Amino acid sequence: MDNKKENSRRQFLKKAAKGAVAVAIAPAALNTQVRTVPALLGGDPVITSHDWPSWPIWKPETDEKRLLEVMRSGVWSRNKVVSEFEQRWAETIGSRRCLSVVNGTNALNTALAQLEIGWGDEVLVTPYTFIASVSCILFNGAIPVFVDVDPETFQMDPDKIEEKITPHTKAIIPVHILGLPCDMERIMTIANRRNLYVIEDACQAWMAEINHKKMGTFGHAGCFSFQNSKNMPIGEGGAIVSDDDAFMDRCFSYHNYGNPYGSVAGEVGAGTIMIGTKLRLTEYQAAIGLAQLERLEEQTETRNVNAGYLKNRIKDIPGILPYRLYDNVTRAAFHLFPFRYQKEAFKGLPRGKFLEALRAEGVPCSNGYSELNKMPFLKNAFNSRFFQKFYPKERLDYGKYAEENKCPLNEKLCNEEAVWFSQNMLLGSKKDMDNMAMAIEKVYNNAEKLKI
Ligand SMILES: Cc1ncc(COP(=O)(O)O)c(C=O)c1O
Repeated sequence: MDNKKENSRRQFLKKAAKGAVAVAIAPAALNTQVRTVPALLGGDPVITSHDWPSWPIWKPETDEKRLLEVMRSGVWSRNKVVSEFEQRWAETIGSRRCLSVVNGTNALNTALAQLEIGWGDEVLVTPYTFIASVSCILFNGAIPVFVDVDPETFQMDPDKIEEKITPHTKAIIPVHILGLPCDMERIMTIANRRNLYVIEDACQAWMAEINHKKMGTFGHAGCFSFQNSKNMPIGEGGAIVSDDDAFMDRCFSYHNYGNPYGSVAGEVGAGTIMIGTKLRLTEYQAAIGLAQLERLEEQTETRNVNAGYLKNRIKDIPGILPYRLYDNVTRAAFHLFPFRYQKEAFKGLPRGKFLEALRAEGVPCSNGYSELNKMPFLKNAFNSRFFQKFYPKERLDYGKYAEENKCPLNEKLCNEEAVWFSQNMLLGSKKDMDNMAMAIEKVYNNAEKLKI
């Protein structure tokens, strides 16, 4: 996703979170104008007058004590509170180890670097994701190879993985995009059979589960983001989880200038031991994280209940195809609530107009990601001095690469079908869900008029 697109995604999340729009006052059945005239054409909106749950949530009475202690202690750099947060996150996710870092982007960069994925390698990834899932591959010098999506689940299609594996393939990055789990059992079976690393991009999938096992614990490493719009917001922040002690020691050392840590030990007094950088979380970020963690379980439950209810309410509207979860999913995170919009059932009303009409009815919504596999950063990486230096010419034939990395189903999802509601809307009431469904029904009933 380019910066423009990402900014507009984050703006959408921000707007939805701010409660710029509102929740219903009157059931549509009681008000002819609500029922008949679309708000976009001057009618009353389905939803008026009160705000969506704001985001992020901060409750001074419970959340500020620890933060103030940190601020007043003067110990602001990585120390006990960061270690406590890591311990809590590892326990929450069900992983032996956790390392916090500055953001999800660098959690991914670090995980790939410490699995020694780099120059010459290929890494399989979905095109339906945020830029960081792909840039971590290029950042380490490897080449991203795109696996098309299963449009029903919005995830990397496990049926299309094996055909993309070559002798250069080193790893798969399953991205549990929108907070809906990938089919990890199948992905792990393929990875184990083909001897590939799996780095889960769980940056949108806090607490999501397959058979009660949390996302981030299936692969060799799981990466999380705690950015402001996320279900577990710190402002900025990220984490890597893994059960592999030697790998986690390397990650720790890397995030702390390459200084010795655990099994990454040098001669006593000899100093820095490996190539590293500095990615440490601060004590005050950890204090915010600990406060947010207190409400994550309950919020996750609410999002699941509301998402299930809303899905049921809209699934029979012609042309509305809500997400499908794989059968073994016991919980999703619902960073976003996605469905596919098929304009044919709406008398040909284009998706852009559908979104406009829905927003006018008081329902914030977005068309989601655009096509990552066609963005200029890929070609520019191939043309960069580094890539030219390290790769033979035939592997940098961009025309051939672009052809081999076409993802027609992703194209349709991005350009025609996907519609998102943001996670904070799923913290609303049952009535809010009814009103969202009613607004979609209203647009459906008025599709012909709205087309003009
Ligand atoms: C799927 C995915 N991966 C990676 C990231 C990167 O996380 P961060 O913004 O914390 O760097 C994000 C953040 O938006 C994301 O959504």
